[in-house]
Amino acid sequence: MRTTTCLQFVLPVFLLIKGVGSQWTVWMPKVMSTMKSSCIVIPCNFQYPSGVRPQNGVHGIWYFGDPYPQKYPPVVFKSRTDIVHESYKHRTKLVGDLREKNCTLQISNIGLEHGGKYFFRADLGGSNVYTYPDFSDVRVLDSPIIDEPEEIINEMAVTLSCSAPNNCPGMTPEVNWFNTEGLEEPLVTVKFIDDVDNTMVSSELSFVPSYTHNGKELGCKVHYPNTSLSYGSMVALDVKYPPREVEVNMSLEAMEGSTVVLHCIVDSNPPPLITWYLFDVLIKEEEAQNSTLVLENLQPSQEGIYTCNADNKYGEKNNSLFVAVKYPPREPSVNSSVTIQEGTTITLHCSSEGNPVPTLTWFKDGTLVSSIVSESQSILEIRDITFESDGNYRCLAENEHGRASGHVNVTVQFAPVFLTESKCTVIREGIQCVCMASGNPEPSVEFTLPDENLTINETEDEFSYYSSTDGYVVTGMIKLKEKPPTGLNVLCTMSNVYGNETIKLELQQEKKITLAVVIGTVGGVAVIAFIIAAVRYIGRNNQKENVSGSAQQPENPPMIYSSVKKEAESLRKKVIRTELLGSKFTSILEEPYMGNDGEYQYPKGTSESEQEQELNYASLQFSSHQCKESSVQTDIVSDYTEIKRK
Ligand SMILES: *[C@@H]1O[C@H](CO)[C@@H](O)[C@H](O)[C@H]1NC(C)=O
Ligand SMILES: *[C@@H]1O[C@H](CO)[C@@H](O)[C@H](O)[C@H]1NC(C)=O
Ligand SMILES: *[C@@H]1O[C@H](CO)[C@@H](O)[C@H](O)[C@H]1NC(C)=O
Ligand SMILES: *[C@@H]1O[C@H](CO)[C@@H](O)[C@H](O)[C@H]1NC(C)=O
Ligand SMILES: *[C@@H]1O[C@H](CO)[C@@H](O)[C@H](O)[C@H]1NC(C)=O
Ligand SMILES: *[C@@H]1O[C@H](CO)[C@@H](O)[C@H](O)[C@H]1NC(C)=O
Ligand SMILES: *[C@@H]1O[C@H](CO)[C@@H](O)[C@H](O)[C@H]1NC(C)=O
Ligand SMILES: *[C@@H]1O[C@H](CO)[C@@H](O)[C@H](O)[C@H]1NC(C)=O
Ligand SMILES: *[C@@H]1O[C@H](CO)[C@@H](O)[C@H](O)[C@H]1NC(C)=O
Ligand SMILES: *[C@@H]1O[C@H](CO)[C@@H](O)[C@H](O)[C@H]1NC(C)=O
Repeated sequence: MRTTTCLQFVLPVFLLIKGVGSQWTVWMPKVMSTMKSSCIVIPCNFQYPSGVRPQNGVHGIWYFGDPYPQKYPPVVFKSRTDIVHESYKHRTKLVGDLREKNCTLQISNIGLEHGGKYFFRADLGGSNVYTYPDFSDVRVLDSPIIDEPEEIINEMAVTLSCSAPNNCPGMTPEVNWFNTEGLEEPLVTVKFIDDVDNTMVSSELSFVPSYTHNGKELGCKVHYPNTSLSYGSMVALDVKYPPREVEVNMSLEAMEGSTVVLHCIVDSNPPPLITWYLFDVLIKEEEAQNSTLVLENLQPSQEGIYTCNADNKYGEKNNSLFVAVKYPPREPSVNSSVTIQEGTTITLHCSSEGNPVPTLTWFKDGTLVSSIVSESQSILEIRDITFESDGNYRCLAENEHGRASGHVNVTVQFAPVFLTESKCTVIREGIQCVCMASGNPEPSVEFTLPDENLTINETEDEFSYYSSTDGYVVTGMIKLKEKPPTGLNVLCTMSNVYGNETIKLELQQEKKITLAVVIGTVGGVAVIAFIIAAVRYIGRNNQKENVSGSAQQPENPPMIYSSVKKEAESLRKKVIRTELLGSKFTSILEEPYMGNDGEYQYPKGTSESEQEQELNYASLQFSSHQCKESSVQTDIVSDYTEIKRK
């Protein structure tokens, strides 16, 4: 008996070893799922070696988590005793018939804690107890499963599925999508998926996504009819789309040296690579949704079209703006100073940069001489140069942000011109003869007394000869002890390389002063003022305007346009006189722009026409009857008979 027992014991072991895989086998789904609080039925069939004879019926045990009884895994079901682990009480039922090798198990009101591996152990009595190594992995879900494609792209049809397990007989879930408002023509298809081991109910939602759906949350709801069981799940759409809008600042103007911050706001998914260009030169690159370009200490070279280009792998788009850089005029570039001979024609060029384009204006010794042009260059042409053209020419460049000027000195070389101060006067010690002339280069003075066969120049010091130079004005003086018996006959000659001129100096009597008084207050004052002004004017004129080239100096130049048209053969002396009287500026510059007299402005707000102005001159004859002896330089005097009353 012992031997038999022993044999009996040994035999199954032998058979077991021999029969593994062929006879002790079980089938159950490897993976199953169900919704929490619903139920699950795990189909199960097992086999045991045909040589085994079950004693006292076929029994079975379901374990949770572990196949080895030695480790005391929770007992899910036990046919022999019906004693189960606490958490499975009243939940489990063997729906299969063990005698028919059907070990199908039902678990009701399943909880999340019941998710895991389930093992079956067959108990055929005696030592024929065997735990099958195959198990069923049960997954308990508390929400439906939403499947979406890896990439959802704008305008490309897409299908999302929501599924719930259908492994609880008699409880078929209903699966519904919600929050689908705004989707264009969504199509829903419900499918029953009957896999070998796992059945599912799935609802497929098909639609064509657009960028407006990016971030939209879609919901799926699972419900078991006639129960209170329902489950939900949400999914946020991630719709990829190319840069749709690239917003940049409006075109703008900024001052040189300022800081400008440009923004580029891109609507795209995912964030693009943002590239900034100035014209087609790359300045900045970054991967961002929005980008900021900071332009510090703005320079004119930074003016231009700024483009923000946004590129993600779905497409690219760009947008541009214009940044204008404003700046005050640069110091104008003008010709270098020139020395020129009278009678010739020169052109002076002036150009300056600025934004807006500066206006360019020429001034001569502080007086406006050209029309104002708003071009990059202003050319001043001075035709038929006379000594009057001599002076400091300033080109003023102005725009609303500032001003700057450039200077050119024009030095005119001209033949001597006598000044009216040239005369002889009776003084206490005798007679003094003064001879004044303007000329460049500085003329030399020579007195001649023809009756005495005498020539007096600076090398001759016997005759109290004196000469001085002030700018272009040279003054020569001699003193005679007494009036020659033959009458006074003094000639004065001024000469330089451009010519010479000789006049006879007339004797001016002391009486002359009385004469002035007699003429009248107005006339007398005018004569004196005239002489003082003459000396002052010439002195000043020849010193030239000493203006610095610095920019931004506010100034208020008199707006004077001369309407005096130069008569072809106008005498130089006449020109001087007009200047001395300060009646008006005599332009010797021929300006084509000045064809219309009506546009001219006169100094001190005078707006009379030229003809009207002429009427303001009073005649004063030096060689009048009241001055019988002073037949003063008739040739010159005839040119000086007009003095402006004003
Ligand atoms: C096992 O039992 C279940 C429940 O009674 C049944 O639905 C199933 O068809 C049976 N399996 C086999 C293979 O007979
Ligand atoms: C739900 O219950 C109603 C009656 O209460 C029944 O007519 C219907 O068939 C049930 N539906 C399901 C799916 O069981
Ligand atoms: C550009 O636009 C942004 C807002 O879009 C603004 O904050 C910024 O000041 C603008 N830059 C300039 C220079 O106007
Ligand atoms: C980009 O700019 C937009 C508009 O100003 C703003 O709504 C958005 O939040 C910004 N995005 C990032 C990433 O800064
Ligand atoms: C901006 O887009 C236009 C077409 O819209 C393209 O021709 C141009 O090259 C783009 N500019 C840049 C800098 O990418
Ligand atoms: C001034 O400069 C311009 C151009 O540089 C030249 O054409 C012109 O002859 C110059 N004028 C004088 C007087 O040098
Ligand atoms: C013009 O002449 C004045 C006085 O002679 C001098 O101070 C100034 O520097 C000169 N300007 C130029 C541009 O030569
Ligand atoms: C001056 O010279 C001329 C001839 O050269 C001569 O006739 C005349 O007498 C001279 N007069 C005097 C005052 O010397
Ligand atoms: C001055 O006159 C003398 C003759 O009287 C002449 O020799 C000399 O060259 C003259 N000097 C000048 C500077 O003209
Ligand atoms: C004065 O000029 C004339 C020509 O205009 C010339 O013949 C004469 O020699 C000159 N005289 C002097 C002193 O330079």
